[in-house]
Amino acid sequence: MQEIFNRRSIRKFTTDAVEPEKIDKILRAAMQAPSAANQQPWEFIVIEDKENLKKLADVSPYAKPVAGSAVTIALLGNENEFKVPKGWEEDLGAASQNMLLEAVHLGLGAVWLGVATSDVVIEQVRSYFQLPDHIKPYGLIAIGYPDGQKNEFTDRYKAERVHYEKWA
Ligand SMILES: Cc1cc2nc3c(=O)[nH]c(=O)nc-3n(C[C@H](O)[C@H](O)[C@H](O)COP(=O)(O)O)c2cc1C
Repeated sequence: MQEIFNRRSIRKFTTDAVEPEKIDKILRAAMQAPSAANQQPWEFIVIEDKENLKKLADVSPYAKPVAGSAVTIALLGNENEFKVPKGWEEDLGAASQNMLLEAVHLGLGAVWLGVATSDVVIEQVRSYFQLPDHIKPYGLIAIGYPDGQKNEFTDRYKAERVHYEKWA
């Protein structure tokens, strides 16, 4: 699938809005992801308001692309939906990747901004959205039309990382 190979993190966007149908497709792609015991533990917050995007960009020193994005989608885990509690982050990871690939497919650029990777950022996101305790911050996907950067292939294949039948 060409989208897998061409996808890159796009961090600079034009001022063009992303069409509502495209945002809908990205959300549908997210919810199509596999999940442990089919628990589908995800929730999403769609942010398009420019002032809100600027404020949200401050939740992490590495989330600056949010400020210039046309739309950012926050991914959250809903503890009330957990059947396999240890699986929720993997489920959300699969949903995140689906969103990035669908964005490429739609001619957009996107970048995954880690939240669950830092306790400090988790708390910042929790406080920004005033989340109840059972809703767990996972990540942000900033999306827009690429400005300058392109989705283009970079070869990362490492034959030495592939093992056959046994480790050694
Ligand atoms: C869990 C995770 C967290 C990430 N967090 C950030 C981030 O906070 N800020 C950022 O600019 N990029 C972030 N990225 C994007 C990576 O930096 C990027 O995927 C990596 O450098 C490879 O580049 P590529 O996506 O262009 O192939 C994150 C990616 C993942 C999977």
